[in-house]
Amino acid sequence: MQKILVTGGLGYIGSHTVVELQNTGFEVIIIDNLSNSSLDVIEGITNITKSSPVFVKLDLRFKKDVEQFFDQHNDIEGIIHFAASKSVGESIENPLLYYENNLNTLIYLLKECKKHRINNLIFSSSCTVYGEPDSLPITEDAPVKKAISPYGNTKQISEEIISDMCSVSELKSISLRYFNPIGAHSSAEIGELPIGVPQNLVPFITQTAVGLRDYLSIFGNDYPTPDGTCIRDYIHVVDLAKAHVVALQRLLINKMNIPLEIFNVGTGRGCSVLEIVNAFEKVTDQKLNYKIVDRRSGDVVAVYADIQKANEILGWKSERTMEEALSSAWKWEQKIRNL
Ligand code: NAD
Ligand code: WQD
Repeated sequence: MQKILVTGGLGYIGSHTVVELQNTGFEVIIIDNLSNSSLDVIEGITNITKSSPVFVKLDLRFKKDVEQFFDQHNDIEGIIHFAASKSVGESIENPLLYYENNLNTLIYLLKECKKHRINNLIFSSSCTVYGEPDSLPITEDAPVKKAISPYGNTKQISEEIISDMCSVSELKSISLRYFNPIGAHSSAEIGELPIGVPQNLVPFITQTAVGLRDYLSIFGNDYPTPDGTCIRDYIHVVDLAKAHVVALQRLLINKMNIPLEIFNVGTGRGCSVLEIVNAFEKVTDQKLNYKIVDRRSGDVVAVYADIQKANEILGWKSERTMEEALSSAWKWEQKIRNL
């Protein structure tokens, strides 16, 4: 069995990816500092896959600890690097936290990759690198616009750092630019666990429906879109997790055309905020309290992926519907509130 290191593997996307990796036959070792996750996630993963991943509690900001980890684990064949801070708003308030956590950790990992000749790396990038697109759907060669937040900037810089390392070492990397991941595993054993007030749409909806929030604020209905609300490409987290497995397999069998390949990971379909709200009401058969409020600063009007490249080269496309994603998110929310 090939051993894969998953950093941030107890987080939202990481945990779903660990499940898919284990189900495909990979041996997984997780590093996480639990800054945005909990040890219970290991139980959830184990219940689904009937196999427990190895877990090492470690903060990747501590270089000595990272070095020690790699000195003790010399049989890692690939790394999927999820660990990062991900709140756009928090990054504007506290940029250094983001530059430190998202860039130093990557640099320390890359040093160890070079030292231990680990040449396969998957990086969690984001559609945020595109900013406000000039045309839709957005392809991977669309220009990367000046980032509107330090968070977005860390993703742009990370891709550049990886690219630079690919050209001077044996490193091969795939950068996956995720669109908007939503939903949970169908078993409701794992899902998204936002700390505090959720920033993202779907966890805010499920927390409102469960009674934790009075109402959902819809940020603006005067955008130049058919119903006036913003458009995004919402992808089921299980489909996203599966994209990591096929990308990893491509790296491991060395089928890369160039040392750094970049893929959009979305559904290719744009969906408005009101469409999400209406679909949620339909799949859960209940009314959702919401109010239209002012626009949220920094929101782009519309963004959705061109997924042809991932489809043709990775042989991957999303399979689950937005309704399935919303229904799984709702099942997960009810489970964690003991309903
Ligand atoms: P998450 O916060 O649920 O998971 C990240 C995990 O990394 C957490 O478990 C956290 O405890 C851990 N972590 C953070 N800093 C660490 C450190 N210094 N050392 C060790 N562990 C650390 O986030 P997620 O939604 O699963 O996102 C995973 C990755 O995907 C991130 O890189 C994020 O930027 C990227 N991404 C997320 C989205 C999204 O909407 N969720 C979209 C695009 C890209
Ligand atoms: C989706 C839509 C909001 C909350 C963010 C990051 C991006 C990426 C994915 C990491 C928007 C609207 C939201 C609410 C609302 N993450 N909304 N009321 O902003 O597309 O992307 O997560 O890389 O970098 O910016 O996602 O879920 O916050 O918002 O009306 O309470 O829902 O205006 O149109 P976003 P989101």
